[in-house]
Order: sequence, then structure tokens, then C-alpha cells
Amino acid sequence: MTTQHSLPGAVTELHRRQQDLGMSWADGHLGAFRYIWLRDNCPCSDCRHSNGQRILDTASIPRDISPKSIALAEDGGVDIVWAYDSHASRFSAGWLRGHSYSDKERENQRRQPRLWNAEGLRSLPEGSYTMVSTSSASLRAWLTMVSDYGIAILRGVPCVSGRLTDVVELFGYVRETNFGRYFDVRTMVDPNDIAYTSLALSAHTDNPYRDPVPTLQLLHCLSSDDIGGDTTVVDGFCVAEALRVGEPGKFQLLTTVPVRFHYQDKDCYLEAESTLIQLSPQGQVVGVKFNNASGDPFCLDYDLMEPFYDAYQTFASMLESPEFQVRFKLDPGDLYIVDNTRVLHGRTKFSSGGKRHLQGCYADRDALLSRLRVLSIGEVIPS
Ligand code: OGA
Ligand code: ZN
Ligand code: ZN
Repeated sequence: MTTQHSLPGAVTELHRRQQDLGMSWADGHLGAFRYIWLRDNCPCSDCRHSNGQRILDTASIPRDISPKSIALAEDGGVDIVWAYDSHASRFSAGWLRGHSYSDKERENQRRQPRLWNAEGLRSLPEGSYTMVSTSSASLRAWLTMVSDYGIAILRGVPCVSGRLTDVVELFGYVRETNFGRYFDVRTMVDPNDIAYTSLALSAHTDNPYRDPVPTLQLLHCLSSDDIGGDTTVVDGFCVAEALRVGEPGKFQLLTTVPVRFHYQDKDCYLEAESTLIQLSPQGQVVGVKFNNASGDPFCLDYDLMEPFYDAYQTFASMLESPEFQVRFKLDPGDLYIVDNTRVLHGRTKFSSGGKRHLQGCYADRDALLSRLRVLSIGEVIPS
């Protein structure tokens, strides 16, 4: 069956088929929607609450559902009356277009991070605290950097103890841990973490022994020394993709063999297990966990031990290589935030007698992305 319509953005033709309803738009776009899917997503007030949540019980929809009638609506949307219960559903053309689910559209909807190596990140993404804390456009720009690159610097954060938690509160909530709401990173006597020494820290993600792992980390420089203690960052996704291409067998091991991490001090014992590289069901790299200091002894099949070490060492040396790693110096008032499931950080060693002092804290990426979406909607639809 074919019907015609001419409003801009409207569905212009309907094609009723056995399993689905085909639709054409004026610009040539084609969509195919299964009947069970259309019934499941009926937007009427009996099926959806005004808050957007589904009331309809998806499990109650007959699998052999078909329409009694279909028609193009006045506004260019689609009207369907269902055969099994005579329920009427009206879908707007815009909603149908926005929820089309062809292979190409599903591909476009996937998060596409901007991968970087040392060459690609010659200048670090950065914002100014004064701007970001007073202008929602500047905050939006800064949060976009975190979302795209997994790292951003903030300059001019007042050198006041705990001020980094105010930065978190611009977009979300502090993730408190056994280290407190925030923690001091400086040399200590009898430290419970090697971060609190003057030793170099190789590229790592923090707290791989937590489940769930904190997805954002902030480090704020309160005072620094002239020599040593430089910061290093590396895009774990970029390195993982290079490993996939150059050493597919090693990539396969790091995406399938889980290893355990733990942290212990007098008050706590945390442990978690995961692969070093995590893939989505579609095979996209969606997470990297690497922390040489917190790894448990590998507990693997005897024959896997050598190949696993081979893969581990290759990945570790790529993470440290100047091809991928970016090094910079934090000055007092500088803060950086990393996506702790993607970008690894570290530092060079420094003098134990110096005055280097950072403060760190954790937060959740979902809150940051939520804030970014809300700010972005605000840009499109002025309130
Ligand atoms: C940390 C850390 C880096 C630094 O505390 O997690 O990695 O520059 N610190 O001291
Ligand atoms: Zn309905
Ligand atoms: Zn760290």
C-alpha cells in the first residue's frame, strides 16, 4: 500500500508489508519498522507516562501483531490501529526519523571518541576556571573536551585545599572512597600508596581494584617543584587500536584474559577482576584498565603465562612510548581531569625534599555526560 504526503519533514509514503511498515521521507530516507516495535513504542498516555517512562507491558504484546489500519496523519506522522485490541497509536514523523534503526543509523549513534597520539595532541585541551565556573557555554566547551579526548586541563583553579571538589560540582558529584572525598598527593612517611612517594608512576588508570571503577579522576596542583614530577598522559583507546592492528594475537589476549587487582591497607581490602582492554559487543574498545602497581600475581593457565606476559609487556611499552605519550608540567592552579576508563596518567620522579603537592578526587562520567547533554539541549532550545 502506498499513500502520499507533502509537508516538510513528513513521512510521504507508507508501505505495508507482512512483518513491518516501510516508510519514505521526502528527502529519500527509507525506514522499516517492525510491528511489535511500533506497538511497544506507542506514545499515547495509556502506554507512556507523561514523564516518558513506559507503562505498557512489553511482554503482553502478541508476537504476531499486525495493524487493522494504517494511514498518514494530517501532521505528516503515521496513524496505526492495531488488529488485536483496536488500540490507536500515532507516531510523529520526527520521532520515527530520530529512532530509525537501520545498520547505518545504529552505527552513527555509537560513541566515536577522538583518538589521539602525541602528534595528534600537540596542544592540550584546556579551559579557564573563571570562565568555566561562570559561563555555561565555557562549561559546555570544557566538558565536550573531556567527552571527546578523555582529558582536559583547567587553568587558574585557586590553590585552596579541597577546591577541586568545586570543579566536580560544576557537573556532578564527588565519588567518595576510603581515601576520602579528596586526597593529598605528596610524599609521606610510611605511605599506603606509591603515589604518596617521590617515585615515578608509569602510565596507569586509578583504582582498578574497585568495582565499579571511578570513571573520572581530577588532580589539582597546589604547589610544584622546578625539576621533576612532570605529568604524563596517554590515550589508552588509541594504543589499544594500534595493538589491534599491529599485534592482533596480543590484542586478543588482553581483551579476553581477566586479571585481578587489589588494594590493601589496615582498614580495607578491595579487589576486582577484569581484562586489561574491554570491548563492546560490537568489538569497539570501550575500556582500558592498567595499573602495574596494583596487579595481583597473574593466575593463568601455565601455557598462557608466557604469551600473556608478551602481550602485557608490549602494551606497557606502547603506553610509555613517545609516539603515544604526552608529557607536560602542572603549575600551581592547574588541574587536569581524565576519563579513568580511557586515558592513563603518570608522572616522572621528583625530589622527596621538594614542595610538590597535588590533590586528587574521583567522580562519575555519566553525570558529566548528563550535564553536557542538558547544556547542549539548552543551546538548541533557548529557555
Ligand atoms: C595519583 C597519581 C600523579 C601525580 O595520585 O593517582 O597518579 O602527578 N598522581 O602525582
Ligand atoms: Zn498507546
Ligand atoms: Zn593515579
